[in-house]
Amino acid sequence: MQEPVNLDDVMTLGEMDPGGMLAAVEDFPRQCAEALNLGREAPELPDAEGISRVAFVGMGGSAIGGDILRALLEDVVGMPMSVHRSYRLPSLLGPDTLAVFVSYSGNTEETLSALDDAIYLGCRVLVLTTGGKLLERARANRYPAVVIPGGLQPRAALGYLSLTAAAAMERMGLIQGFVRVAHGMAESLRAKGEEWGRLSPLEKNFAKQLALRLRGKIPVIYGVEGMLAVAAYRWKCQFNENSKVPAFHHALPEMNHNEIVGWHVLDEYSRKVEAIFLAEEDDASRVAKRVEITADLLREKVGGVTVLRVGGDTRTERLFSAVHLGDFVSAYLALLNGVDPTPVEVITLLKERMAAEG
Ligand code: PA5
Repeated sequence: MQEPVNLDDVMTLGEMDPGGMLAAVEDFPRQCAEALNLGREAPELPDAEGISRVAFVGMGGSAIGGDILRALLEDVVGMPMSVHRSYRLPSLLGPDTLAVFVSYSGNTEETLSALDDAIYLGCRVLVLTTGGKLLERARANRYPAVVIPGGLQPRAALGYLSLTAAAAMERMGLIQGFVRVAHGMAESLRAKGEEWGRLSPLEKNFAKQLALRLRGKIPVIYGVEGMLAVAAYRWKCQFNENSKVPAFHHALPEMNHNEIVGWHVLDEYSRKVEAIFLAEEDDASRVAKRVEITADLLREKVGGVTVLRVGGDTRTERLFSAVHLGDFVSAYLALLNGVDPTPVEVITLLKERMAAEG
């Protein structure tokens, strides 16, 4: 392997990141605060009367905001919340469903197709997008739409793609007090950003240290079930799209019953893996015990094991801080890999080829 770029050389980092992914990650706390204001000030929202379920519809970077809100809010909102990543919607959705359609570009074909089902089923649609056909169709059908700022990669717009919807739900009366908690979270992320940002030197910067440890490895991220399993999936996707490496994820306790056995035969490949566990700092549950034991058992099998204990005053703070750390690590790993973190050429190519098929 070549000598890696010096992660403390901010000039070089800037040159290697022409699309500004690292800057977008650093800007995330501000984006979160703005996203909350956008949702709270949305000019028009669906009527909340009689809503008994919430469905998020989207793909990739636009869908994971739904996973995050589901993990944080389903218990609070007291109604089923679901996330749909496909061309079709299940027929159990209907007029009592708030269907939040999320597409950063507004042109994702699966999401547009699912909108036909939502119309047919009579769902109460709310659209979150920067524009595109989704916005056109929302306007044509007189569905409320919140237009979010463009110019980012969808995965770098996670604040808009999650918190704007949450703030809108709060204004509709479906949840209470979340916006205040989320503003507190955004504030706490600022301090994390200083710790993990490019100006913080390697010796004090855990995000840079972890990126270096991951160089030449395949990250496999295991999150404790619930919100940290969502964070694990976000880490995996960010390693794929920013760092351009294969990465995998699973959740505990389920992986204790299958995947843990799989690191047994292909030693040569297993040693290429860095297993990263995402757990909560003061978790005394049986699952937390499993994290310790699983990490111990895997130490003999894979190339390296990192156990991260996420802290924070609220669940929202813990989840977003786990996400924010992964975003930094994946951006640094891209730069260590000598790749531009921003473009996702193969996704673009695939979409073009699908469009050409008609
Ligand atoms: O990260 C990405 O670029 C993708 O996962 C996109 O989010 C996904 O293809 C859907 O596109 P959009 O977010 O524009 O609906």
